[in-house]
Amino acid sequence: MIVINHATNYRGETVTLELASDESSVIDASGLTLLPAVIDPHVHFRTPGMEYKEDWRTGAKAAIRGGCTTVFDMPNTKPPTFTVDLLRDKKALIDKQLKEVGIPLRYDLFFGADKHHLNQIPNAKGQVIGIKVFMGCSTGNLVIDDDESLHAVFKLAAQQNMLVAVHAEDEHLIQERKANYRGAMEYKAHSLLRDIEVATRAVEKAIALTERYGTRLYILHVSSAEEIALIKAAKQKGLPVFAEPTPHHLFFDTSQYDTLQGRAVVNPPLRDASHKEALFAAIKEGVIDTIGSDHAPHTQDEKAQGYGQCPSGMPGIEFMLPLLLDAHAKNLLTLDEVVSLTSKRARHIFALPEYEDWVLVDLENTA
Ligand code: DOR
Ligand code: ZN
Repeated sequence: MIVINHATNYRGETVTLELASDESSVIDASGLTLLPAVIDPHVHFRTPGMEYKEDWRTGAKAAIRGGCTTVFDMPNTKPPTFTVDLLRDKKALIDKQLKEVGIPLRYDLFFGADKHHLNQIPNAKGQVIGIKVFMGCSTGNLVIDDDESLHAVFKLAAQQNMLVAVHAEDEHLIQERKANYRGAMEYKAHSLLRDIEVATRAVEKAIALTERYGTRLYILHVSSAEEIALIKAAKQKGLPVFAEPTPHHLFFDTSQYDTLQGRAVVNPPLRDASHKEALFAAIKEGVIDTIGSDHAPHTQDEKAQGYGQCPSGMPGIEFMLPLLLDAHAKNLLTLDEVVSLTSKRARHIFALPEYEDWVLVDLENTA
């Protein structure tokens, strides 16, 4: 058994915890705060096929360092996770990699929606946490850019009572922006080519599909005030719509292109600083539900390539909780809000069972 003595929970009460374990230890947690471990509903751990960027050995270590014991992994791997056979193979690889490093990371997988494999969706029910729809292209080539397939996915998901998580960027508008672009091919062009209208057009469409079919909709990496307004209106109508921003959209903005160069290139792109404020306000208002790291590593060499070649995505699972606690230290978030974003809402939305995963943090250590 592991005993944790003298910890303070996030409500300020002193608590003692007795956790069933093969290990026998007593931890004096005086001065430390006990938080539920982070649930990260959005990671790209790259297995199978892109393990040179990341795998579950390295990803799990990063997760634990970030106070995270549960992750949901995305299907844009090589090959993508869009059949039940590929799903089974992926789980076997993950289990093997986690065993190798001895980290019992809890995980679930999203199933990739692909127009040629829609018949696989009912078979995946019960084996995945939801269906991921890329409405715009990102890393890999999973995309659903035709209305017929989109309708089919939302309808099927509603019938099967499966949640749909969307990468809400409109592929047609992205292609139109690229075709008409006459400016320099520099990293910051990314925020123009995939501007806010690219995101809102897709968010509007996804919400309309939810309204039509009743599908539970989880909107990934919400990045702008305009998306928030659409999501707020949908929630006010009572639609089952949930919103997740990333740490990079909460803490970075377009000024980061100057310092981070290609490492600041992500989909959806970084926005002007005003949107960070809108995201924090939306947390306070309860329009935002969770936070997902969108942990999407690439190699340094890949990220050093010029705009056009440099892939989108940045890592973040290690830093998500520390950044939120930093925001708490600056009075931008209450501890209640941090816990709600990092575990409570995700547990509710994805109907996860209660389990005893905790993280001890030192709130005084703000250096
Ligand atoms: O920036 C991103 N990187 N956005 C995504 O949607 C995918 C991700 C990746 O897998 O690299
Ligand atoms: Zn992602």
